[in-house]
Amino acid sequence: MKRLARLVCLAFGIIPIAIYSLQDPPEKTAEQVYKDVQSFKGVPASDMIPAMQFMSAALGYQCRHCHDTNDYAADTHLKTTTREMIELQRDINKRYFKGRLEVTCMSCHNGKEHPTRQPMPTGVTFNHDEIDNPPTPEALFAKQIAAMGKVPAALVRTGSMTSPNLQTDKVETHPIVFTQAEGGKFRAESGDKKFGSDGKTTWFGANTLSGESAAVFDRIGRAWRGETAFAGLDQPIVTGKTKIGKNDVIVVTAPRPATGSTEQLYFDAKTHLLTRVVNLKRSTIGNVVSAIDFSDYKDIRGTRVPMKVVVTFAGGEPWIMDFRSAKVEASAQESLFQVGG
Ligand code: HEC
Ligand code: HEC
Repeated sequence: MKRLARLVCLAFGIIPIAIYSLQDPPEKTAEQVYKDVQSFKGVPASDMIPAMQFMSAALGYQCRHCHDTNDYAADTHLKTTTREMIELQRDINKRYFKGRLEVTCMSCHNGKEHPTRQPMPTGVTFNHDEIDNPPTPEALFAKQIAAMGKVPAALVRTGSMTSPNLQTDKVETHPIVFTQAEGGKFRAESGDKKFGSDGKTTWFGANTLSGESAAVFDRIGRAWRGETAFAGLDQPIVTGKTKIGKNDVIVVTAPRPATGSTEQLYFDAKTHLLTRVVNLKRSTIGNVVSAIDFSDYKDIRGTRVPMKVVVTFAGGEPWIMDFRSAKVEASAQESLFQVGG
């Protein structure tokens, strides 16, 4: 049989390769099948729909977001932008990855229409809704201070903190003692971490902190206490509303010139309490965003005290403070708050 087939082929002057290509004609290109192809010129037509599906998935879009579905060839604003994006993707890969398909729509968009510019702590977003008749920031601050009640001379909270060990990154839970006193003094100690402030100098272990790092620890130590929380902000404005869990919150945004950062304060619309502080610090290649969440406010002898504090630094596991008891005291020992305390 084999021999016969070869004979037939030879007899008719056909080589097997020719038979193969006759059965499978060269595939049409996109521009031979579709009407207005600019980006996919020379690409097999069968690539077109998979490419469309890929772009849809990478942006969380449906076809109709980019297309007039009565006429896929019609120009739309997003089709024009998309053609530039396809160009951008090809340029990056050609220039930096030897033409390999390394960077794609997904690398930047990650399933969303707008790529995120900076790593964001879980649950934090800058996309807030507008408020029709916004209250003034001053009114929100005043309501928060009133809702906080008395500011005690000293307050000691105890419980546990779950956070990554600084040497091993392993998440561990240790008892925590958190002491605060008037004048912005505070001290926290848990496991391998000890930090505080004597009201002027903020420290972590034996090191004194400055600038942004000092500001972050100061916020952990005293942000929820009205009398110092709003000092040092430059011309705060109400920038919108959003939700934290089920609760409506109003967002105040302001630069803090001393640290060159921008702060966002989230006030619960019902209780007026401060429930989140987000800090954004610029670097030349991107912003560093951290967040502190205050929840589970309890009334401790006329003072509202957050019994849960979650600190989320840019990258890494959060520091979760769960306080089980809080005690108001007449005073606290000064030496506690000194550097290295
Ligand atoms: C992110 C925007 C975007 C999405 C989403 C998208 N497309 Fe497209 N589509 C384009 C662009 C841009 C072109 C033109 C490509 C070119 O210039 O080669 C195109 C071209 C087409 C064409 C060729 C039209 C013609 O005749 O010229 C078809 C068909 C098509 N898309 C179908 C779809 C389908 C089906 C989906 C959903 C699975 C989809 N597209 C999703 C941007 C998109
Ligand atoms: C290197 C990063 C990067 C890559 C790769 C990339 N994009 Fe974009 N894209 C952006 C940025 C940044 C913007 C503009 C910022 C914004 O809209 O929030 C943008 C905007 C867009 C928009 C406009 C959104 C709007 O509502 O105005 C579309 C559509 C889009 N990209 C589609 C794509 C598609 C499709 C791909 C893959 C072919 C792609 N992008 C690849 C970064 C990228």
